[in-house]
Amino acid sequence: MRMILVGPPGAGKGTQAARLVDLFRIPHISSGDMFRAEVKAGTELGQELDRLMKTGGLVPDDVTIPIVLKRVTQPDTAKGFMLDGFPRTRPQAEALDAAMTKAGVALDAVVLIEVPDALLEERAVMRRSDPETGKIYHLKYNPPPPDVAGRLVHRADDTKEAVTKRVTKYHSETAPIIPFYQEKGILKRVDGVGDPDAITERIKAVLES
Ligand code: AP5
Ligand code: MG
Repeated sequence: MRMILVGPPGAGKGTQAARLVDLFRIPHISSGDMFRAEVKAGTELGQELDRLMKTGGLVPDDVTIPIVLKRVTQPDTAKGFMLDGFPRTRPQAEALDAAMTKAGVALDAVVLIEVPDALLEERAVMRRSDPETGKIYHLKYNPPPPDVAGRLVHRADDTKEAVTKRVTKYHSETAPIIPFYQEKGILKRVDGVGDPDAITERIKAVLES
């Protein structure tokens, strides 16, 4: 299974990917997680990424594309992968398409998790992540257990200001990839509002259809 999860910031891509990769036994490849690891490592590139991400901007295509394309050709992707957060611009979608054609493989599905803008700020601002387990929590909708509370991380780009900019960027830069995949007949729309378990079931249903 080679698939992509698309959706605005806070749509639940990371939450759903964690559940689905266990089911499909494919690697979860999140460009955002890869960039945050680079920031954590404190490299020169990491410092540049930190500045861009904190303010809600996108990392330039000429940086993003080679990093992710290199990752999707690693041996663990032989049976598939779940991309989360990439592609998020039309040039990224075209570059992935060209790389996959060259490799003689094809995408099975692009799942678009739809959530109204009005719900996104609260989802992001109240998100907390566990750096040890990678688990994603929400202070209101998915509260963390007390024993992990001391080590939880609040992402630097989960401020009200950065989320507003990320949502705007989603509509201007990422939404144009939707018709690209619709024309290929592999776009599956899923309502991302409701219980996360119900949303997992919706995704499974569209993948089977
Ligand atoms: P990235 O890490 O990809 O962030 P994003 O796309 O903004 O998405 P999020 O991770 O914020 O949200 P999510 O959809 O994963 O939601 P989650 O499951 O966590 O990218 C970050 C930055 O990196 C970008 O802004 C950019 O700078 C850079 N970048 C990354 N990829 C790039 C690329 N390809 N090109 C250029 N730049 C790139 O859920 C959110 C919260 O909601 C959690 O608290 C969760 O518990 C809660 N929640 C989840 N589901 C539900 C539900 N059903 N009901 C209620 N709450 C829920
Ligand atoms: Mg995420």
